[in-house]
Amino acid sequence: MFLNKIQKKMSKNFLINGIETHELDARIILKEVLSFNDKDLILNQDFLISKNLINKINSFELRRIKGEPISKIFKKRDFYNSTFIISEDVLDPRPETELIIDIVNDLIKNNHVKNILDLGTGSGCILLSILKEHKTIIGTGIDLSKKAIDIAIKNSRKLSLEKQSNFFISNWLDSINDTYDLIVSNPPYIPSTDIENLPMDVKNFDPILSLDGGSDGLDCYRKIAKDLKRVINKNGVIILEIGYDQAYKVIKIFELLDFILVRKYNDINGLDRVLVFEIKKIKKN
Ligand SMILES: C[S@@+](CC[C@H](N)C(=O)[O-])C[C@H]1O[C@@H](n2cnc3c(N)ncnc32)[C@H](O)[C@@H]1O
Repeated sequence: MFLNKIQKKMSKNFLINGIETHELDARIILKEVLSFNDKDLILNQDFLISKNLINKINSFELRRIKGEPISKIFKKRDFYNSTFIISEDVLDPRPETELIIDIVNDLIKNNHVKNILDLGTGSGCILLSILKEHKTIIGTGIDLSKKAIDIAIKNSRKLSLEKQSNFFISNWLDSINDTYDLIVSNPPYIPSTDIENLPMDVKNFDPILSLDGGSDGLDCYRKIAKDLKRVINKNGVIILEIGYDQAYKVIKIFELLDFILVRKYNDINGLDRVLVFEIKKIKKN
């Protein structure tokens, strides 16, 4: 069968099955299977695809129709300026999380940052994207999941950042002994009861450990906040991703523990997405 016929058929099948990115996903599958780039795909519409490759394409098409995200099928995902290895053991890096990297880039212009801690690092996408942009900074990523830490280490090697980074298992701050100028985190923040209502490609393919934020979604913020002063330097900054409706409650959790909100950022949809805190300075009389 010819490439253009397969491409049209696959895109139509995706559309019928409610996949919004039907054209893009069909193109990605063909590019992966045929080792083509975008240009090859356009210039070789009359390429005759062998039976063997058609079977391969059909199996990827079926997995996509059953809800598996393209990134999980091919075990990679673009985030900021890099392609990250991912697996069923890590959250698929989300475009809205890229906002954290922009905020950090801005902050580093005016603040002296020599080290960074990333809590719940997953694939390592936040920490490694920052380190790639700032070669004098060193970073630590922690996660409760050993399999996530293994993926983050693989990504650090893939991006040649292994000398600038280290990753280890920790239950939030329990195994952290150093102090840091900048602490970033995108913790799990979905309320437990909302998880069954998430889209199939999220609830069936992202690890529950990366999603479940406890009964009100805020358990991880409470756990992180209670011990944070021990690991943050005097003029340190904390940058947190939050759910769109959690700003007020997360601010309260941190304010009660002597942190002050410096700024709240919205994502491209205008929703509250990132909070930046500092330690409250106690005025001397
Ligand atoms: C929302 S995911 C974020 C992953 C990655 N930082 C990103 O932005 O794509 C949250 C991460 O927190 C980790 N996590 C959950 N509970 C944890 C705990 N008690 N201690 C450390 N990490 C934890 C999960 O394994 C997961 O990798």
